[in-house]
Amino acid sequence: MKKKYHYKSKNLIESKLLNKRDIECFLNESEKYIKFNKKRVKKEKILKGRTIFNLFFEDSTRTRTSFEVAAKRLGADLINVSVKDSSINKGETLLDTMTTINSMSPDILIVRHPEEGISKKISKIVNAGVINAGDGSHEHPTQALLDALTIKKKFGNFSKLKIAICGDILHSRVARSNIEILSKLGSSINIIGPKSLIPKDIKKVNVFYNMEDGLKDCDIVMMLRIQKERIFKNHVPNAKIYFEKYGLDYKKLAYAKKSAFVMHPGPMNRDVEIDSKLADDITRSLIQEQVTMGVAVRMACLEILIYNRDKFGDN
Ligand code: NCD
Repeated sequence: MKKKYHYKSKNLIESKLLNKRDIECFLNESEKYIKFNKKRVKKEKILKGRTIFNLFFEDSTRTRTSFEVAAKRLGADLINVSVKDSSINKGETLLDTMTTINSMSPDILIVRHPEEGISKKISKIVNAGVINAGDGSHEHPTQALLDALTIKKKFGNFSKLKIAICGDILHSRVARSNIEILSKLGSSINIIGPKSLIPKDIKKVNVFYNMEDGLKDCDIVMMLRIQKERIFKNHVPNAKIYFEKYGLDYKKLAYAKKSAFVMHPGPMNRDVEIDSKLADDITRSLIQEQVTMGVAVRMACLEILIYNRDKFGDN
């Protein structure tokens, strides 16, 4: 860990705060880990003796385990805390829990929580670096970085790409972070969904309410999960009607470029937002590749943030 990085913070909370060179810094550093992760023995020492907490107060499979795999492959000690076995259930406030964990001198806290802006609040009261692994409908920067890395590996360059992001944009932190990152990298973005699931104040994108118009000439079709846990009003019709209008199947994919690829951050609602067969078709779907890239990106994030904390201090 001798070099310095263009990105200088010990926190990674909002894609909004990253500029193009910051994003490139994360993507470039991820490259060596793509190769590393193909080795038979995957163990590095650069984070040996470092302590990382996974603090997940919302369900997760991919994000939580890929941070765990990333930390362990770099030699760090990782502690998983889930709400089910934390003192939050005894009435402790989240910020008290964070202060308690901070007193154990961790290097990085990885936080997923339903409250928007909570990672930022936490970063102000702890000495550790903080990674936002999803705060409500707000942001999920490492997901957008891994999506960008997946696209980079497939297309090499972003500036000529047209990318469609489809479905429940309103409740999607993945969409919000991806719009920031992919537009800064120079791609053009189409947003597609029913009016009720598209935020009124959305910027940096072209908005479409039907798949045929929105998918025209697209290189990538990124589908989103209907966020049932965040939908409190009657935003969506039943699953069958939704699939007919906005679910991606081979027929709708044909509106995009012939060579277009499909992405989805997971977990998928099969046959609600994406046709089950298409999701599993590795000639068209990059979904498994996204998971693979997720580990590499998170290894790079941990390396960079811990370096920054050592170099620039923890305040
Ligand atoms: C996403 C999330 O939790 O924001 N999943 C993920 O991190 N891979 C998307 C989702 O839950 O729909």
